[in-house]
Amino acid sequence: MRIVKTGSYLPDTIVTNDDLAEYLDTSDEWIQKRTGIKKRHVAKGESIESMAYKAVEDLFLNSIGTVVDRNDNSYLTDKANCGETIDFIIVATMSHKSSSPGIANLIQARLGITQVFCLDISAACNGFIAALSVANGLLKTPTYRRGLVIGVEKMSDILDWTDRSTACLFGDGAGCVLVEASDALVYAESISSDGAHGEDLKAPLEQAKLEMNGRGIFNFVSREVPKNILSTISKAGQSIKAIDYVLAHQANKRLLGMISKKTGITEDKFLSNIDDVANTSAASIPLLLDKVVKDGIITLEGMQLVVFVGFGGGLNWGSIVTLV
Ligand code: ACO
Repeated sequence: MRIVKTGSYLPDTIVTNDDLAEYLDTSDEWIQKRTGIKKRHVAKGESIESMAYKAVEDLFLNSIGTVVDRNDNSYLTDKANCGETIDFIIVATMSHKSSSPGIANLIQARLGITQVFCLDISAACNGFIAALSVANGLLKTPTYRRGLVIGVEKMSDILDWTDRSTACLFGDGAGCVLVEASDALVYAESISSDGAHGEDLKAPLEQAKLEMNGRGIFNFVSREVPKNILSTISKAGQSIKAIDYVLAHQANKRLLGMISKKTGITEDKFLSNIDDVANTSAASIPLLLDKVVKDGIITLEGMQLVVFVGFGGGLNWGSIVTLV
């Protein structure tokens, strides 16, 4: 599997820590010190499907090296124009409130493409890693050559905005990648779950009442994630020194520092946008990836060795080491 393009979408409304402190017993200082978060984007009157679709539009319109006519909407359905045929759409999300149709199907309908394998994945903050893993498996078969992998969340819908311990942590957004079958020179993954501790993060969709044992999750990440990363680097036949960048789930800046310390991968290699977007669950890694591609840090030329790593509710966690 090779990631060939990226896209993202963040809703316009921004809620700062000070905005939350106006009605919650919290402060900008507490939130920044404990998490690194300064603000989050919140989708007002906008559906999860619309956010995912805007990220896909961004992928085709604004991706590096792609020339398209912005006034011509046919780029999404005109295969010759957008240069691709898509064989599958996989969407990772934990905040889509309807079990059918899935977001992947809704995006397929909007794109107007047929003969596509559509699949939604619910694996909380590890959703995008799980989705990439499934995409990689599909691309190993002769049936599938190219697909869209999307992470999208409307966490604002499932949060209890009166609970200071969770309201300050999450945000909304969508990110996506176009992946193709390729003889990747490096690809290794390790993905794990621990359903016995699933109660550490509960998000019943019928009521806005996400509950999290923050300390419990922090400890599980500290215990499991660094060794998971080291095992994947070793499976890939690579060394810590060879890693160019780590794109980790953006849950807490202190966690990134802890993972750096425990793995020996220096902190400057951990890319981050948590200050601007907070924890966007399954959208977090593709949102960050698209940002650093647009910033020119990741070039998508297949020359940079990166670790993608996710962790969160379920409990689920995992990492992928590959060239991007
Ligand atoms: N403002 C002010 N005080 C607060 C706030 C707030 N927003 N939230 C909690 N507090 C208080 C608590 O009530 C507690 O007060 P007490 O000592 O009087 O009881 C105190 O601050 C310390 O609370 P802790 O929960 O122990 O704080 P901690 O340092 O652990 O930070 C945090 C909390 C930020 C949630 C941290 O534990 C964390 O980031 N955990 C990991 C979360 C994570 O990785 N999630 C990813 C998965 S999410 C998913 O899968 C969708």
